[in-house]
Amino acid sequence: MIVVNSVQTLRRLIQTHRDMGHRIGFVPTMGNLHAGHLSLVKTAKQHADIVVVSIFVNPTQFGPNEDFDSYPRTFEQDQALLEQEGADIIFAPEVAEVYPNWPNLTRVQVAELGNNHCGASRPGHFDGVTTVVSKLFNMVRPDCAVFGQKDFQQLAIIRRMTSDLNFDIDIIGAPIVREANGLAMSSRNGYLSTEQKEHASFIYQTLSWMKQQIENGERDYRALEQAAKQRLTEQNFKPDYVHVARQDNLEMAQDGDQQLVLLIAAFMGKVRLIDNMTLEI
Ligand code: PAF
Repeated sequence: MIVVNSVQTLRRLIQTHRDMGHRIGFVPTMGNLHAGHLSLVKTAKQHADIVVVSIFVNPTQFGPNEDFDSYPRTFEQDQALLEQEGADIIFAPEVAEVYPNWPNLTRVQVAELGNNHCGASRPGHFDGVTTVVSKLFNMVRPDCAVFGQKDFQQLAIIRRMTSDLNFDIDIIGAPIVREANGLAMSSRNGYLSTEQKEHASFIYQTLSWMKQQIENGERDYRALEQAAKQRLTEQNFKPDYVHVARQDNLEMAQDGDQQLVLLIAAFMGKVRLIDNMTLEI
């Protein structure tokens, strides 16, 4: 496994693989890797000959009061995990390498899909994500790229951006990886104590409960969202949002819609956790 920090070296290295006819898979990350990220690498290996993993804590996707400075940077540990998993190249650039004209930026903004759910609570967040992912796509020029379905809205936005900007890249969504208690794996779980992690699985339980209600015939989705919020509040969570949405355009679901996604964002103390569950009716 090779670690590179500059775009120039990365490009040269990838070109040698391309010349050999290798298919390039890409997994963008912000580091602090866990089993969820490693499953993305596994998926990439099934679709490509060479897997490039980027580790870059992207400043443009953090709001002014968010955890950019304190976001865990665990490069040595990440490197060991990626080596074990059989990744081929780690691309770990500095901010100046990715954003040479920082703080003046050309930005990529996807219309519509980023306005609700996390986009409403974290203004500018998805513009930061699409800006960095489009830059990384141009640096790596992969044949396929793998993103986790845990960030359901992010995945939808990346798919739209890829299509709208004509990137010739297959976007692959990989299933959510959960702890034994159901808690979705996330770098932010590292902020939680063992006890809090146990309690945080209530978000998954709430999603499962909502799914059950819908399968039992509940079609008043706004009432269901309120009831789920109430349950979370009673368990000392501060719900940011609980939404029943359409999978295709992420608009709020109405009776008659068939492919649904249940989305929750809730604070446990200062830690904001997100999770989702899809269902077809
Ligand atoms: O999902 C993430 O970890 C980040 O949003 C991504 C895609 C690596 C862009 O910084």
